[in-house]
Amino acid sequence: MLTDAKARSKAYFDLHHASRFAREGYWSFDYKRSIQALELLRPDNLIDIGCGPGGFLARMRKELPQIRLFALDLSEGMVNEVRERFGGSVEATVGDAENMPLASCTFEAVTVNMSIHHYPHPQAAVDEIFRILRPGGHLLLEDMDCIPPIRAIANFVFPRLPGGDVKMYNQREIRTMLEAAGFTVLSYHKITPWTFLCVAEKPMTEERSL
Ligand SMILES: C[S@@+](CC[C@H](N)C(=O)[O-])C[C@H]1O[C@@H](n2cnc3c(N)ncnc32)[C@H](O)[C@@H]1O
Repeated sequence: MLTDAKARSKAYFDLHHASRFAREGYWSFDYKRSIQALELLRPDNLIDIGCGPGGFLARMRKELPQIRLFALDLSEGMVNEVRERFGGSVEATVGDAENMPLASCTFEAVTVNMSIHHYPHPQAAVDEIFRILRPGGHLLLEDMDCIPPIRAIANFVFPRLPGGDVKMYNQREIRTMLEAAGFTVLSYHKITPWTFLCVAEKPMTEERSL
Protein backbone atom coordinates (compact mmCIF):
# COMPACT_ATOMS: atom_id res chain seq x y z
CA MET A 1 0.00 0.00 0.00
CA LEU A 2 2.91 2.35 0.75
CA THR A 3 4.25 2.00 -2.76
CA ASP A 4 1.09 3.35 -4.37
CA ALA A 5 0.46 6.09 -1.77
CA LYS A 6 2.32 8.61 -3.91
CA ALA A 7 0.42 7.65 -7.06
CA ARG A 8 -2.85 8.02 -5.14
CA SER A 9 -1.80 11.40 -3.67
CA LYS A 10 -0.83 12.66 -7.10
CA ALA A 11 -4.04 11.50 -8.78
CA TYR A 12 -6.23 12.83 -5.96
CA PHE A 13 -4.58 16.25 -5.67
CA ASP A 14 -4.38 16.68 -9.44
CA LEU A 15 -8.21 16.65 -9.33
CA HIS A 16 -8.70 18.87 -6.26
CA HIS A 17 -6.46 21.85 -6.99
CA ALA A 18 -9.26 24.28 -7.85
CA SER A 19 -11.64 23.72 -4.92
CA ARG A 20 -12.22 26.75 -2.69
CA PHE A 21 -11.41 24.69 0.39
CA ALA A 22 -8.05 23.65 -1.09
CA ARG A 23 -7.22 27.20 -2.25
CA GLU A 24 -7.75 28.66 1.22
CA GLY A 25 -5.61 25.90 2.73
CA TYR A 26 -6.61 22.48 3.98
CA TRP A 27 -6.22 23.60 7.60
CA SER A 28 -5.60 27.33 7.30
CA PHE A 29 -6.48 27.95 10.95
CA ASP A 30 -2.92 26.87 11.85
CA TYR A 31 -1.12 29.21 9.44
CA LYS A 32 -1.10 32.09 11.92
CA ARG A 33 1.29 30.18 14.22
CA SER A 34 3.83 29.64 11.45
CA ILE A 35 3.50 33.26 10.38
CA GLN A 36 4.11 34.43 13.97
CA ALA A 37 7.27 32.29 14.07
CA LEU A 38 8.43 33.62 10.68
CA GLU A 39 7.92 37.21 11.87
CA LEU A 40 10.60 36.46 14.48
CA LEU A 41 12.89 34.41 12.23
CA ARG A 42 12.75 36.91 9.33
CA PRO A 43 14.10 34.66 6.54
CA ASP A 44 14.96 36.23 3.17
CA ASN A 45 13.47 33.30 1.30
CA LEU A 46 11.16 30.37 2.01
CA ILE A 47 9.97 27.25 0.22
CA ASP A 48 6.58 25.71 0.98
CA ILE A 49 6.78 21.93 0.42
CA GLY A 50 3.51 20.15 -0.44
CA CYS A 51 2.20 23.64 -1.15
CA GLY A 52 -1.18 22.58 -2.59
CA PRO A 53 -2.83 25.42 -4.54
CA GLY A 54 -1.05 28.04 -2.43
CA GLY A 55 -3.25 28.86 0.57
CA PHE A 56 -0.23 29.37 2.83
CA LEU A 57 1.68 31.25 0.12
CA ALA A 58 -1.26 33.67 -0.25
CA ARG A 59 -1.17 34.40 3.48
CA MET A 60 2.58 34.90 3.30
CA ARG A 61 2.21 37.31 0.38
CA LYS A 62 -0.23 39.36 2.42
CA GLU A 63 1.42 39.27 5.83
CA LEU A 64 5.18 38.95 5.10
CA PRO A 65 5.52 40.31 1.53
CA GLN A 66 9.28 40.89 1.84
CA ILE A 67 10.05 37.14 1.83
CA ARG A 68 10.94 35.62 -1.55
CA LEU A 69 8.68 32.61 -2.06
CA PHE A 70 9.26 29.20 -3.63
CA ALA A 71 6.98 26.16 -3.72
CA LEU A 72 7.10 22.45 -4.46
CA ASP A 73 4.37 19.85 -4.83
CA LEU A 74 4.08 16.32 -6.17
CA SER A 75 0.90 17.24 -8.05
CA GLU A 76 1.28 19.03 -11.36
CA GLY A 77 -2.30 20.31 -11.00
CA MET A 78 -1.36 22.01 -7.71
CA VAL A 79 1.81 23.51 -9.13
CA ASN A 80 -0.03 24.85 -12.19
CA GLU A 81 -2.60 26.42 -9.88
CA VAL A 82 0.20 28.16 -7.92
CA ARG A 83 1.79 29.40 -11.17
CA GLU A 84 -1.55 30.84 -12.35
CA ARG A 85 -2.37 32.34 -8.99
CA PHE A 86 0.95 34.07 -8.30
CA GLY A 87 2.44 34.45 -11.78
CA GLY A 88 6.22 34.64 -11.67
CA SER A 89 6.28 35.94 -8.11
CA VAL A 90 6.40 32.40 -6.69
CA GLU A 91 8.83 29.94 -8.27
CA ALA A 92 6.94 26.64 -8.19
CA THR A 93 8.41 23.21 -8.97
CA VAL A 94 6.80 19.83 -9.53
CA GLY A 95 8.68 17.36 -7.37
CA ASP A 96 8.70 14.75 -4.65
CA ALA A 97 9.57 15.89 -1.13
CA GLU A 98 11.50 12.65 -0.71
CA ASN A 99 13.84 13.44 -3.62
CA MET A 100 13.71 17.14 -4.42
CA PRO A 101 15.10 18.58 -7.67
CA LEU A 102 16.55 21.52 -5.71
CA ALA A 103 20.07 22.64 -4.91
CA SER A 104 21.59 22.10 -1.46
CA CYS A 105 21.86 24.94 1.09
CA THR A 106 19.46 27.22 -0.82
CA PHE A 107 16.62 28.19 1.55
CA GLU A 108 16.50 30.05 4.85
CA ALA A 109 13.11 28.57 5.78
CA VAL A 110 11.05 25.54 4.77
CA THR A 111 7.38 25.15 5.63
CA VAL A 112 5.44 21.89 5.36
CA ASN A 113 1.74 22.23 6.12
CA MET A 114 -0.52 19.17 6.28
CA SER A 115 1.68 17.23 3.88
CA ILE A 116 4.09 14.92 5.78
CA HIS A 117 1.28 12.49 6.62
CA HIS A 118 1.22 11.69 2.86
CA TYR A 119 4.88 10.67 2.73
CA PRO A 120 5.62 6.93 2.73
CA HIS A 121 9.30 7.60 3.57
CA PRO A 122 9.17 10.72 5.77
CA GLN A 123 12.79 10.34 6.91
CA ALA A 124 13.88 10.73 3.28
CA ALA A 125 11.85 13.96 3.07
CA VAL A 126 13.26 15.30 6.34
CA ASP A 127 16.81 14.49 5.14
CA GLU A 128 16.05 16.34 1.90
CA ILE A 129 14.69 19.37 3.77
CA PHE A 130 17.89 19.42 5.84
CA ARG A 131 19.94 19.29 2.63
CA ILE A 132 18.16 22.23 0.90
CA LEU A 133 18.24 24.48 3.99
CA ARG A 134 21.14 26.82 4.57
CA PRO A 135 23.05 26.30 7.83
CA GLY A 136 21.14 28.25 10.49
CA GLY A 137 17.90 27.84 8.47
CA HIS A 138 14.58 26.71 9.92
CA LEU A 139 11.93 24.08 9.23
CA LEU A 140 8.35 24.80 10.30
CA LEU A 141 6.49 21.52 10.21
CA GLU A 142 2.73 21.56 10.78
CA ASP A 143 0.55 18.46 10.68
CA MET A 144 -1.96 16.33 12.53
CA ASP A 145 -1.54 14.61 15.87
CA CYS A 146 -4.06 13.74 18.56
CA ILE A 147 -4.68 11.44 21.52
CA PRO A 148 -3.36 7.88 20.99
CA PRO A 149 -6.69 6.01 20.55
CA ILE A 150 -7.87 8.46 17.86
CA ARG A 151 -4.43 8.39 16.23
CA ALA A 152 -4.64 4.59 16.09
CA ILE A 153 -8.03 4.79 14.37
CA ALA A 154 -6.73 7.44 11.95
CA ASN A 155 -3.73 5.27 11.13
CA PHE A 156 -6.01 2.34 10.38
CA VAL A 157 -8.24 4.49 8.14
CA PHE A 158 -5.56 6.61 6.39
CA PRO A 159 -4.20 3.97 3.97
CA ARG A 160 -7.81 3.18 2.96
CA LEU A 161 -8.58 6.79 1.96
CA PRO A 162 -8.33 7.90 -1.69
CA GLY A 163 -5.88 10.79 -1.08
CA GLY A 164 -2.71 8.78 -0.43
CA ASP A 165 -2.70 9.51 3.31
CA VAL A 166 -0.06 7.29 4.97
CA LYS A 167 0.35 7.95 8.68
CA MET A 168 -0.24 10.43 11.49
CA TYR A 169 3.22 10.64 13.08
CA ASN A 170 3.38 11.24 16.84
CA GLN A 171 5.65 13.72 18.61
CA ARG A 172 8.33 11.13 19.37
CA GLU A 173 8.43 9.98 15.73
CA ILE A 174 8.68 13.57 14.47
CA ARG A 175 11.48 14.47 16.91
CA THR A 176 13.38 11.25 16.14
CA MET A 177 13.23 11.89 12.37
CA LEU A 178 14.34 15.51 12.73
CA GLU A 179 17.22 14.68 15.06
CA ALA A 180 18.35 11.79 12.84
CA ALA A 181 18.58 14.25 9.93
CA GLY A 182 20.76 16.57 12.03
CA PHE A 183 18.16 19.16 13.10
CA THR A 184 17.95 20.76 16.53
CA VAL A 185 14.29 20.77 17.58
CA LEU A 186 13.50 24.22 18.98
CA SER A 187 9.82 23.69 19.83
CA TYR A 188 6.86 21.36 19.40
CA HIS A 189 3.51 22.92 20.29
CA LYS A 190 -0.02 21.72 19.91
CA ILE A 191 -2.09 24.31 18.04
CA THR A 192 -5.42 22.50 18.35
CA PRO A 193 -6.17 19.10 19.94
CA TRP A 194 -5.52 17.51 16.54
CA THR A 195 -2.66 19.61 15.06
CA PHE A 196 0.87 20.69 15.99
CA LEU A 197 3.66 23.00 14.83
CA CYS A 198 7.27 21.89 15.25
CA VAL A 199 10.13 24.34 14.62
CA ALA A 200 13.62 22.94 13.99
CA GLU A 201 16.95 24.51 13.11
CA LYS A 202 19.74 23.29 10.88
CA PRO A 203 22.87 23.92 12.97
CA MET A 204 25.50 26.27 11.61
CA THR A 205 27.92 23.31 11.63
CA GLU A 206 26.53 20.25 9.90
CA GLU A 207 27.54 17.60 12.44
CA ARG A 208 25.00 14.79 12.70
CA SER A 209 24.23 13.25 16.07
CA LEU A 210 26.02 9.92 16.66
C1 LIG B 1 -3.57 18.10 2.36
S1 LIG B 1 -2.69 18.89 1.06
C2 LIG B 1 -2.01 20.30 1.91
C3 LIG B 1 -1.74 21.45 0.95
C4 LIG B 1 -1.22 22.75 1.58
N1 LIG B 1 0.08 22.58 2.20
C5 LIG B 1 -2.19 23.31 2.58
O1 LIG B 1 -1.82 23.63 3.72
O2 LIG B 1 -3.36 23.46 2.23
C6 LIG B 1 -1.24 17.85 0.86
C7 LIG B 1 -0.35 18.27 -0.28
O3 LIG B 1 0.86 17.52 -0.22
C8 LIG B 1 1.22 17.14 -1.53
N2 LIG B 1 2.07 15.95 -1.48
C9 LIG B 1 1.73 14.69 -1.15
N3 LIG B 1 2.80 13.88 -1.22
C10 LIG B 1 3.85 14.64 -1.62
C11 LIG B 1 5.23 14.39 -1.87
N4 LIG B 1 5.75 13.16 -1.75
N5 LIG B 1 6.01 15.41 -2.25
C12 LIG B 1 5.50 16.68 -2.39
N6 LIG B 1 4.20 16.97 -2.17
C13 LIG B 1 3.39 15.98 -1.77
C14 LIG B 1 -0.12 16.89 -2.23
O4 LIG B 1 -0.02 16.91 -3.64
C15 LIG B 1 -0.97 18.02 -1.66
O5 LIG B 1 -0.91 19.18 -2.44
